[in-house]
Amino acid sequence: MSSIALEFRQVSKNYGAGPVLENFNLTIEKERLVTLIGPSGCGKTTLLKMINRLIEPEQGQILWEGSDISKLDPVELRRNIGYVIQQIGLFPHMTIEENISIVPRLKGESKQKLVGRTEELLQLIGLDPARFRKRYPHELSGGQQQRIGVARALAANPSIILMDEPFSALDPISRVQLQKELIHLNRHVKKTIVFVTHDIDEALKIADDLILLKNGQIVQSGSPGELLQHPADAFVREFLGSERFATEVSEQPQSAPSLISLMDASGTIDLHCQVPEALQQLHASRMDELLVTDANNKVVGIVRSDELRRWAGLSESSRLKVAEVMRPPIPSVQDHATIAQLLTLLNEYSIVPVVDASQRLLGTITRQSCIKAFGQSYDRKETAV
Ligand SMILES: Nc1ncnc2c1ncn2[C@@H]1O[C@H](COP(=O)(O)OP(=O)(O)O)[C@@H](O)[C@H]1O
Ligand SMILES: [Mg+2]
Repeated sequence: MSSIALEFRQVSKNYGAGPVLENFNLTIEKERLVTLIGPSGCGKTTLLKMINRLIEPEQGQILWEGSDISKLDPVELRRNIGYVIQQIGLFPHMTIEENISIVPRLKGESKQKLVGRTEELLQLIGLDPARFRKRYPHELSGGQQQRIGVARALAANPSIILMDEPFSALDPISRVQLQKELIHLNRHVKKTIVFVTHDIDEALKIADDLILLKNGQIVQSGSPGELLQHPADAFVREFLGSERFATEVSEQPQSAPSLISLMDASGTIDLHCQVPEALQQLHASRMDELLVTDANNKVVGIVRSDELRRWAGLSESSRLKVAEVMRPPIPSVQDHATIAQLLTLLNEYSIVPVVDASQRLLGTITRQSCIKAFGQSYDRKETAV
């Protein structure tokens, strides 16, 4: 069998205002994670949508495992190609399980098989099937929804998965997590993945093969190392360089306190505690939310004071445990995260869990303690804030 998954041959596309692609050629090997990268408007999405025939070229051929895709039924083709986009578009009135199994269901697979497959996929993308299968999309965070999108794309067991800037709307922490998981996934499930991004850091991190485009043409292709070590021209150098530079300046300034120095042990409660106890603790610590932890010191959820007060107003509430009323956990950082990553989260949450590699809680950082520590560190340096 040939090792080629996809081939563009002399493909041209023109939406009317001049050619977007002209005599474009590209070969993509099987089971590789290939990233198409380049400035906005260079034709990345157009290329991707041609593969599943959401867009048809005017000229040329696209071969999928040797077959000309223009000769295949587009609906059938799309069912055999996974597709993940930025706004994932889960069906809001369907459960996670129903969302994931939609294509296999259309293909007429048995109910029993669907249940097994959903469970397997949820595990693969790192979400506990027992907790998530019956939930609805609005009950999930952006990162979790995007994971479901990946699971859905894998559900029909396609040989190719197309991903168009799938993580670009996510917060930096979820984004990095999903990038790692994608690499892991690609090693395990052995799919050909064509991944579009305009983020050079993302591309360098995940790609087996990088294809750098400009105005519908390939400027350079190769492994991330090849492009970094031997940029073909000034455009490549600038494209790699300017973005690299942008990440360097976002590193923490030396005057900033370290993550560890900001950490303490406040703001947590055991999942077996009762609602009134949690309220008391919130009141005493003057916080708005508490992280709920289990016996292994893992964060399993979060409770908010306004919601707890509502629960406390109900007659049965005194016997309710925190575990019964908590919400899903908020994002955490690891102890080697940067201050920039921490601040991104503190912008959204008043408390951030710091965890180790096995997700055990090392401590918490609150918005208040962080502001205080920064204030002191600037005071010491007599720097005007
Ligand atoms: N449906 C369309 N109609 C007209 N022009 C389009 C359409 N889709 C894309 N284009 C144009 O084609 C070029 C490539 O677009 P696209 O493939 O979306 O680029 P990218 O994904 O790299 O940002 C751009 O100049 C864009 O304006
Ligand atoms: Mg695009």
